[in-house]
Amino acid sequence: MEQYIIKGGNPLVGEVEIGGAKNAALAILAAAIMTDETVFIDNLPDVNDINVLLDAIAGIGASVHRVDRHAVKINGKGVSDFNIEYDYMKKIRASYYLLGALLGKYKRAEVALPGGCNIGSRPIDQHLKGFRALGADVEIEHGKIIAEADRLVGKHIYFDVVSVGATINVMMAAAMAEGLTILENVAKEPHVVDVANFLNSMGANIRGAGTDVIKIRGVHRLHRTEYSVIPDQIEAGTFMFAAAATRGDVTVCNVIPKHLEATIAKLLEIGCEVEEFDDAVRVVSKGRLTSTHVKTLPYPGFPTDMQPQIGVTLALCEGTSMVTESIFENRFKYLDELARMGANVKIEGNSATIEGVKGFSGARVSAPDLRAGAALCIAGLAADGITIVDDIVYIQRGYERFEEKLKSLGGIIERVQSEKDIRKFTLKVS
Ligand code: UD1
Repeated sequence: MEQYIIKGGNPLVGEVEIGGAKNAALAILAAAIMTDETVFIDNLPDVNDINVLLDAIAGIGASVHRVDRHAVKINGKGVSDFNIEYDYMKKIRASYYLLGALLGKYKRAEVALPGGCNIGSRPIDQHLKGFRALGADVEIEHGKIIAEADRLVGKHIYFDVVSVGATINVMMAAAMAEGLTILENVAKEPHVVDVANFLNSMGANIRGAGTDVIKIRGVHRLHRTEYSVIPDQIEAGTFMFAAAATRGDVTVCNVIPKHLEATIAKLLEIGCEVEEFDDAVRVVSKGRLTSTHVKTLPYPGFPTDMQPQIGVTLALCEGTSMVTESIFENRFKYLDELARMGANVKIEGNSATIEGVKGFSGARVSAPDLRAGAALCIAGLAADGITIVDDIVYIQRGYERFEEKLKSLGGIIERVQSEKDIRKFTLKVS
């Protein structure tokens, strides 16, 4: 099992290139099978989740040609199997995007039902509600979702909760339904807009993505396209909070600053300097930062995927901060690990009260999930002494060359495999 070992105390300084948005790319790759023509997709992050989904897509008969680390050509003409096995779903929940893609194009899909996950129970009732409204017969049998339709017909659908996954999944199916679909109370995340833009570049007719209402006029067929995925706002935000927590000076490059507004607002509130450029943002953190309150909300609110990164930073800010998690119920596990590094935290329901401390002391901690794992690395970089982060497979699901990027900013971090590697690192840095 690989681990990260970190010697903290160095401020992160320099420029870091941000990759393509994992969560946009996952949906776009699934949507790529909705045409018989070849689709070229660029600016993909080279992370485990993407590679697993590409395997799932190849597994149902599509041709997948990896052009290079960040680009792929997909041709969905050979799709002959409409069944996505539990093995894929277990590894990556977003395989459920193949449900909307297959149902839209072939009017048939069988996908293993995703279970809960480390950040909480994650129902998909809104996805299924949308498919049913479009006319699909959706059954759950033997742990699988089986969706079938003779024809899909556009409908007026109101989502009961704002869901990124349901918005994208139903939008994909509706792109090839007959007539007009109106989706209300939809998610407005940048990746929802990116998937709509991608589908439109294939000939779909989707308007309003990025607002509360999306209107989709179904088309009979979709065609070839070349498309570049948007930059990853969560990867960018992670490095921005790493700059803040380590009292550093980091410029995240190849980003869309507009997508980072909530993150920038919080960094300014705690006392960082933030400079925005056309496609870059610089974060400078000097002296002791001050506390603030934050509540996670759907976009444009503060993203739940940034909650652990801000939580770690607030644990080093002067004063008392309150963090409220309103999207997922189980996203504070990292705070128990952080307490082992000296943080002063109290969790009550979906709120955490964080009393800032002057510093963390390095400890051995476990990554409870993807974003929390990245946040614990930030804590390690800011801590006094050595931190070992276990279970980094979670981090590798969503961050490309994470340790290399941190090293390029002056962070002292290595990926290690054994106690021997740990001893070697400790000797080297002591
Ligand atoms: C996506 C992101 C994830 C991010 C989350 C919220 C991907 C692959 N993952 O997850 O990183 O943390 O958005 O920004 O893009 N819900 C229901 N019924 C449903 C669907 C969702 O009740 O049918 C609830 C969820 O339990 C949760 C909330 O709605 O409380 C938001 O979930 P959703 O936006 O669907 O998250 P995901 O799309 O799974």
